[in-house]
Amino acid sequence: MDRRKFLKISGLGVGGSIITGLGLSRFEDFGSKENYYLQGNYAPVKELIKETNLEVIGSIPKDLNGLFLRNGPNPMVEPNTKKHHWFTGEGMLHGVRLDSGNALWYKNTLVSGNDSTANTSVISHADKIYALVEAGGFPVEIDQDMNSLETKPFYGDSNAGFTAHPKLDASTGEMHAMCYDYANKFNNINYVVIGNDGNHKKTQEIEFPSKSMLHECAITENYMLVFDLAVTFSFYKLGRGYFPFSWNDDHQSRIGLLNRHNGSKEVQWFKIDPAYFFHTINAYEDASGNVVVDAANYERIFDTDWNGPFTESPSQLTRWELNVKSGSSKKNRMDDRSIEFPRIHPDLAGKYNQFGYLLASSNSSQPNFSSIVKYDFDKNSSTEYTFGAGHMGAEPVFVPSENSNSEDEGYLLSFVYNQADDRSDLIVLNAQDLNSGPRARIKLPQRVPYGFHGTWVTL
Ligand SMILES: [Fe+2]
Repeated sequence: MDRRKFLKISGLGVGGSIITGLGLSRFEDFGSKENYYLQGNYAPVKELIKETNLEVIGSIPKDLNGLFLRNGPNPMVEPNTKKHHWFTGEGMLHGVRLDSGNALWYKNTLVSGNDSTANTSVISHADKIYALVEAGGFPVEIDQDMNSLETKPFYGDSNAGFTAHPKLDASTGEMHAMCYDYANKFNNINYVVIGNDGNHKKTQEIEFPSKSMLHECAITENYMLVFDLAVTFSFYKLGRGYFPFSWNDDHQSRIGLLNRHNGSKEVQWFKIDPAYFFHTINAYEDASGNVVVDAANYERIFDTDWNGPFTESPSQLTRWELNVKSGSSKKNRMDDRSIEFPRIHPDLAGKYNQFGYLLASSNSSQPNFSSIVKYDFDKNSSTEYTFGAGHMGAEPVFVPSENSNSEDEGYLLSFVYNQADDRSDLIVLNAQDLNSGPRARIKLPQRVPYGFHGTWVTL
């Protein structure tokens, strides 16, 4: 099987050569329940629309000049209901162009070019925009009209895979990424640095035999963080045609610190209780040189639910403190709410952040994405904006205002699904005053399915 063809099956590009040998058809079907991740606003949309006549309620801040983009999986071919996993399917971008207080257009496009399964995030770096996916999938360059380009980002002809969650070191302009591709490298991962010019600068191979699902990484001033957590590659699921990662009780969860300045390949590992998180809020070093990691942690996931992440345990704001001298770690659940898709000020990756912006759900067993929580880590307190009955939000992207003087001076942008209308809005909140509600609500011509990650591109 052609590698690109397999990528469409796995959505994450994992184990292409393995699945070919097994042959999917000789395995029986597993389970028979309806697929939660194809219902309601998880279902894909089929139409590609550009609309310039957008109704706006309220007023769009005049210093928001640019493009709000959001990526997510949108299967364009009828998926196998029983086996479909939310993380799979073609990447679809939804974008809204704002300029001088006006909403110029909404548009949705499919990611194509280098890899149509780049469905997980969209970022801007060194004046270019990229759609990204992990597990060996290729990054795709996107232009300002949301078209996919045929370029081969970062690596040129070597065309290697990347990750959906590189971390920008705002003090250097470099991006740091932890990349895996178990179909081609079964026991190793790559620490990759992209220079501030957008070109590949360094790849450092790291031994990583657990085959943990390495969705996320983090940086601090001196370290690259490696998350070797309790969801690992599963031959059992792969052989049955399912998304090939599973909760693994036998795997010791651990967080690793790799010095990112001295070229060492030695990782200092800290054992932690069984854990899995897709997303950190941030990581940084405290005054004692110890490392603090805040994340949206699941205590169980991808065990009984083979189709997605949300029905087994809520993800909750959890802090680990890693004592670099003693090698010990301390865990503290900071909040009981079900939260996901955390964002911070875009320049603070690896540095202390007072504020985190989280998508919260009042229903933890089947998240309803009912509010945005602004968490204040100085005070261990929070404020919350609730979208209202029948309205479900998405990742809140923080955009600093043009001449901001404080960490939270800016806006939160989020798509909000309106169940009654079966359409979505883009809302703009004042990040310093969530209680006042949206400053602007831009009505979109169709719904934006629940997806993953977005970004703001200043133009
Ligand atoms: Fe993610």
